[in-house]
Amino acid sequence: MMAPLDLVAGARPNFMKLAPVVRALHAAGQLPFRIVHTGQHYDETMTDVFFEELRIPVPDVYLDVGSGSHGAQTARILERYEAHLLKSRPAATVVFGDVNSTVACALAAVKLGVPVVHVEAGLRSFDRTMPEEINRLLTDAVAERLLVSEPSGLANLRNEGVPESKIRLVGNVMIDTLVDQLPAARERATARSLGLSPRGYGLITLHRPSNVDDPTKLALIVDLLHELARDLPLVFPVHPRTLAAAGRAGIEEKLARGQDRLICLPPQPYGANLSLLADAGVVLTDSGGLQEESTVLGVPCLTMRENTERPITVELGTSRLVGNDPERIRGAFAEVLQGRWRQGQAIPLWDGQAGARVAQELAAWLAAGPPTERPTLQTA
Ligand code: UD1
Repeated sequence: MMAPLDLVAGARPNFMKLAPVVRALHAAGQLPFRIVHTGQHYDETMTDVFFEELRIPVPDVYLDVGSGSHGAQTARILERYEAHLLKSRPAATVVFGDVNSTVACALAAVKLGVPVVHVEAGLRSFDRTMPEEINRLLTDAVAERLLVSEPSGLANLRNEGVPESKIRLVGNVMIDTLVDQLPAARERATARSLGLSPRGYGLITLHRPSNVDDPTKLALIVDLLHELARDLPLVFPVHPRTLAAAGRAGIEEKLARGQDRLICLPPQPYGANLSLLADAGVVLTDSGGLQEESTVLGVPCLTMRENTERPITVELGTSRLVGNDPERIRGAFAEVLQGRWRQGQAIPLWDGQAGARVAQELAAWLAAGPPTERPTLQTA
């Protein structure tokens, strides 16, 4: 019998990418698999609710690594995933996205000669101050199969000299989850329960170190949000990292609940967040996933970054880079309120079928013969 695939997830954005691949593998019924959860995210609101809502089976393996500095967290994942691999070797390790769990498990696997498949390969912000950029570069450098979500990913991998035979454009698995969940999310009408009408509010998400870790910058951004909320109420589900940074900056009360036009909420489940996003008039975000989702939903997206590893959302979609400069943000926000924003177009292969293409790719690749045996590096 064939050894199972390990499907690795650790942090919130991984779960939305994992779910459609699990469903597609299950439907095809060809390849056995195990779900490995590293425990990088562990709060109920950051992990359990996603497994329930997205109907992901309970993980077969839980590594319980928790939070820590990048070095400490990555090292813990590496050590614990390696121990699992030594006990029970998979046919391949499938990793998603660009979080610390992605790179750590890829590294543990490749050193034991287990081939790595990277879903959402090839994205580049060309900004090495972002932890995710380092994770993307290193993961792609050791991956055997690189499954790409948008054309820029193909170009980047080709420029880096990755052989064509390892690369496939499969589309965006995160959008499969959106397509699957959108009808239920629309019914849910989360905005209405907050006293807001469709298009009558903006949605905010912020968690990147470049926006939230410096107390002065964070305080400026929060003041700006209060100012913008005078023109349009804003809903802000606050990430734990941002809440902790606000505590350090001494501005927690500005993110407290009950501020009438800046409505701060705990992290939202997938469906509630999608409902808020689908009905929003505008999104201000530094999240990669929200840039993609707002493009698919046709919602104007002010991306609070200086660069993006998802350029198609700017070229064809509804996103514009506005950084964290208040003047630029005010200007773009005003354009949206005046109805002057690009509609955006459909993105090829962001069609709800990417998970099925990933499953087909995996089946064809494994059927072509066992991945070339590589020597297992000696463990001490
Ligand atoms: C991680 C990813 C980022 C992704 C984001 C989505 C990396 C390098 N970053 O960032 O790419 O966009 O997830 O959320 O992998 N915390 C909790 N409860 C949790 C998890 C975290 O309270 O369940 C707090 C802890 O104080 C922790 C902090 O949030 O130190 C940051 O968590 P961490 O997983 O290190 O990174 P994120 O900022 O969530």
